[in-house]
Amino acid sequence: METIETLLGHRSIRQFKEQPIEDEILDKILQAACNGSTLGGMQLFSIIVTKDKAMMEKMAPLHFNQPIATNAPLILTFCADFHRFDRFCECRDVPTDAYSNFQAYQWAVTDSIIAAQNACVAAESFGLGLCWLGTITYNVPQFIEILQLPKHVIPTACIAIGYPDQQIPLTTKLPVRSLIHQESYRDYNDTDINNMYAALEKDTHNATAVAENKTGNLANDYVSRRYKKEDNEYFSNILYKAVKEQGF
Ligand SMILES: Cc1cc2nc3c(=O)[nH]c(=O)nc-3n(C[C@H](O)[C@H](O)[C@H](O)COP(=O)(O)O)c2cc1C
Repeated sequence: METIETLLGHRSIRQFKEQPIEDEILDKILQAACNGSTLGGMQLFSIIVTKDKAMMEKMAPLHFNQPIATNAPLILTFCADFHRFDRFCECRDVPTDAYSNFQAYQWAVTDSIIAAQNACVAAESFGLGLCWLGTITYNVPQFIEILQLPKHVIPTACIAIGYPDQQIPLTTKLPVRSLIHQESYRDYNDTDINNMYAALEKDTHNATAVAENKTGNLANDYVSRRYKKEDNEYFSNILYKAVKEQGF
């Protein structure tokens, strides 16, 4: 597919055929992932390839047993990684403490997310389907243990990939114009917000969720049910501690 068609045809896929992904295709996906822009040419990320079902089963509870964590033939876990560069410095008798800070963390996270999205576009260009597993940033200490991540490495993104076993329409999104600002930020008045969120509020999936859970409106459905303050604060503390403990 043409790149632009691939990008505009994106939708998350959550049911996969058992068909494994060919090695040559996986190689190309990984090459694309590793060929993105990267801070200072340092390539501050690593990718853990999981094909082993036993390993997926081990990680599944940490992904809150989402079916995609075990029904995909392939899971790629992307990590912000300064460990390899530390080792390079050590081997050249250069100190490594320049990168034990939040700035370095931001660089490595950016590199890892660029790699992840490159992998997604490459996978979709081969007709594969995928879904991100945001749960990778929840139970970070346990993922660090299972994946045996050394200091200065932290997981940032996780993608389940496989041949699609479902056909679904494009997901409703905000109109593009609502996300774009010309030259400087133009703030939103209430009418803008009402217009911009109208399609999302009408969307069947969202409207059903609001009705079934009696949350009243979509904004409240997010805040009081989907991504709750107490959960966010709980996992935020775990993540913050893990980032510090990993040496950033
Ligand atoms: C950082 C991130 C984390 C996500 N985590 C999950 C997840 O844990 N489970 C899931 O089913 N979808 C997950 N998604 C997929 C989103 O729900 C999906 O991208 C969004 O609803 C838009 O739909 P689309 O991808 O079909 O356009 C995640 C997406 C992102 C970018």
